[in-house]
Amino acid sequence: MTHAQLPIQRRFGETLRRDAWWLPPLTVLAAFSAFLIYGTWSALTSGGYTFGPYFSPFHAPELWGPTEHAWFGPQPAWWPSFLFFPALLVLPFPGLFRFSCYYYRGAYYKGFWADPPACAVGEPRTTYRGERPFPNWLQNLHRYTMYVAVAFIGLLAIDAWKAFWFLDNGVENFGIGVGSLVMTANVTVTAAYTFGCHSLRHVIGGFKDRLSGQPVRAACYAGCSKLNERHGLYAKTSMGTMIFTDIYIRLCASGVITDWRIF
Ligand code: FES
Repeated sequence: MTHAQLPIQRRFGETLRRDAWWLPPLTVLAAFSAFLIYGTWSALTSGGYTFGPYFSPFHAPELWGPTEHAWFGPQPAWWPSFLFFPALLVLPFPGLFRFSCYYYRGAYYKGFWADPPACAVGEPRTTYRGERPFPNWLQNLHRYTMYVAVAFIGLLAIDAWKAFWFLDNGVENFGIGVGSLVMTANVTVTAAYTFGCHSLRHVIGGFKDRLSGQPVRAACYAGCSKLNERHGLYAKTSMGTMIFTDIYIRLCASGVITDWRIF
């Protein structure tokens, strides 16, 4: 299949705009790169991602592992070492969900590929390749990874609930630490991002060309639409809360800071 040639109207970066159009794509480039690099580093580290009842979102779920948070105990001997941690088998799905999100696409097509860098600014290509070549077709998996991402919210919520249960002299007590609030804030913002997903809105809202008449589905659609109004904001904030939660737990685990037990 041949692709149509677009008329070349401007050279790359050429524009009549006088505002700082380059600032948003540059910010996206820096923020997304930092999230990717930090998240990958954190997921590959073998220690420091847990402190007391707190557990880093970059390591959830710990199916097998060295900490008391592991669902099925220590890593079995038959587990192939090249797979690092079991969580790495799960994390690509919410990762792909995030980076195939319609908001992220709009942002990183500009920030990473300059395609285009901003509205009314010349781009470096004269052809449009669409989303069929690799890796662009991976974007089509968004509607499927959405199911994993929704389940992931459940996992993060369980971890946040566990963050309120402290082991005091061998007895598990309910309590509130700063880390409990940090983990709760993280899952709340991440849920606000996930439940505002366009694909989820479509799935729960009705049918191919009309909305469901059922009150529950109509209410879910309305709630999803409400969250969707700030989808970009929740997308960015949730990246920040994930990193912040991980750093907070690591600082507590390394003794750099002390977790304040409020209750
Ligand atoms: S469109 Fe953004 S998460 Fe689905």
